[in-house]
Amino acid sequence: MFDPFLDENPVAEVRRSDVDTLDYILVSHGHYDHFADAVPLAIQTGAEVIGVYEITSFAKDQGVRRTHGMNIGGGYRFPFGYVKMTPAAHSSSVHGDTTGVHNTLAGGFWIEFKNGKTLYHAGDTALIMEMQLLKGRVDTALLPIGDNFTMGPEDALRAVEFVSPRVVVPMHYDTWPLIHQDAKAFAARVGTLAEVRILKPGESTEL
Ligand code: NI
Repeated sequence: MFDPFLDENPVAEVRRSDVDTLDYILVSHGHYDHFADAVPLAIQTGAEVIGVYEITSFAKDQGVRRTHGMNIGGGYRFPFGYVKMTPAAHSSSVHGDTTGVHNTLAGGFWIEFKNGKTLYHAGDTALIMEMQLLKGRVDTALLPIGDNFTMGPEDALRAVEFVSPRVVVPMHYDTWPLIHQDAKAFAARVGTLAEVRILKPGESTEL
């Protein structure tokens, strides 16, 4: 699971109590709407928390047993595949850290699963030139389109050009009115550059 934001998420279909088994939680950064359920979910399920070192050490301090700290540009081979943390242009504090000592960068993830499929979860980010480094290496890209806090549809379209994924799943929109977007209009603009799969909360797709 990436960036769990369930119990206080106004549009989530899944609540924390619905999650019985979970192996890994990948956290792109420490903001409330990405991290709020990570620690309780990890404690509830025994899942391993993966993310930038300062976030995972905070999770450990909170009682999470299995953590794996990484940093931007670093990769590690997990049982399910190779995970590399990618850069993101975004701020990050660690939600719940009242001491303020766990300052951290925001990032994203590039994953090559054991079956060879590749996934890019951009995290919360602006359009960045570094995305061009992923060109031709991504089957499915999860890209924010919400604007205001992350890139909007205009820049997400340019990110599609930068990365050239086969499939794009828009994310980080319509949680609140402030980040309302027309995903279908975005898909129309992407056109034949990639297949855009618009997922409603609770829906799934095969990689
Ligand atoms: Ni954020």
